[in-house]
Amino acid sequence: MVETLLLGQVLRFDADPFTQGTDAAHHDPRGALLLRDGRIAATGNADVLRAAHPGARVIDHGDGLILPGFIDAHAHYPQTAIIASWGKRLIDWLNSYTFPEEMRFSDPAYAAAIAARYFDLTLANGTTTVASYCTIHPESVDACFTEARRRGLRALAGKTCMDRNAPEGLRDSAQAAYDDSKALLEKWHGVDRLSYIITPRFSPTSTPGQLAALGALWAEHPDCLMQTHLSEQTDEITWVKSLFPQARDYLDTYEAHGLLGANGVYGHAIHLEPREIDRLQEVGAALVHCPTSNSFIGSGLFDMGLAGGNIRVGLATDTGGGSSFSMLRTMAAAYEIGQLRGHALHPAELIWLATEGSARALRIDSHVGRIALGMDADLVVLDLSSTPAIAQRAARADTIWEALFPTIMMGDDRAIAATYVAGTRR
Ligand code: GUN
Ligand code: ZN
Repeated sequence: MVETLLLGQVLRFDADPFTQGTDAAHHDPRGALLLRDGRIAATGNADVLRAAHPGARVIDHGDGLILPGFIDAHAHYPQTAIIASWGKRLIDWLNSYTFPEEMRFSDPAYAAAIAARYFDLTLANGTTTVASYCTIHPESVDACFTEARRRGLRALAGKTCMDRNAPEGLRDSAQAAYDDSKALLEKWHGVDRLSYIITPRFSPTSTPGQLAALGALWAEHPDCLMQTHLSEQTDEITWVKSLFPQARDYLDTYEAHGLLGANGVYGHAIHLEPREIDRLQEVGAALVHCPTSNSFIGSGLFDMGLAGGNIRVGLATDTGGGSSFSMLRTMAAAYEIGQLRGHALHPAELIWLATEGSARALRIDSHVGRIALGMDADLVVLDLSSTPAIAQRAARADTIWEALFPTIMMGDDRAIAATYVAGTRR
């Protein structure tokens, strides 16, 4: 039996720092993780675990900080090549950049090339799990899952369904959305580390008939997640109201068609009305905060006060509306948006959001997102002195939080010293 012992600083959580504060965190400056069969088989002090497992292969990361691999709870892998496209707000940005690019995914070779590029980029940034939208084309889902599986990754993805307000070639129908999604779900859901997510893009690009068809599919597969977008920009909300005049609010356009539930994952959710917050809380839905996207597309300031209680909140890049593949950059943006709302997120909260918070939002927290016995050995090792600017600030640190915060605020892929996927270094 091959055992690997990773040595380094270890930071782990045994509770949610949003409710328990920093007492939820445990830092061992000379810690160790024993990896066996792709899982965490023991955690503890480096000297103690070394003595207990003399036959284990040792990888010493020195002062590197070992954390759970980052979990990006909302991304669009097909937008990889159009990230950082200038000057548009949501609807114009979709029409000018996103839809023309997504058209290209009818070509399986193109889809495969971008999926490979995307997973190479996310792994280089220490991200070991993503929940991605694909395009209207079933081939784009096959490409995403094939490339994730090739790398041994846990991944969640779904065909993005649209049957109106999108160009010819990017529209299906209510029946095709149901049939294609069902076939893809049956093909991929539960294969290795892959999960299918039912994915209506958002209410403006689906007819009521299509929303209802996907609601029916979800009712047949309630263990699946359902992901969509909610209340990202004010213009979008006005448009939704005109498209669904009978709806009480944006969330109601989903609820009326069977698309509100405890396994629902709603991206952005910035401009919510009190009734929407109450309903999301009642059903125990998940929201995903996408801070680099919200500033890049000019959407608004997410209310992190929604975290805790019955609403689970995950963190995400929203590639390519988001301006980075890095969950470190994403944490920095979350901090800045928190500051603009008068709420300074603690480094413990930021790291937790990008790991266990996202895992809980995606209901995969019994497998990933935490350093604990039996969890998958999906890990990232951070170099807390990866650039001269970061190193000189970290050198002044008195606590682990002060040592870590400069990397959260100024770090990028250069701070990723190592990434492990199911115990294998990538
Ligand atoms: N709303 C509907 N589609 C999208 C998308 O691709 N990106 C973002 N940021 N918002 C959306
Ligand atoms: Zn999105």
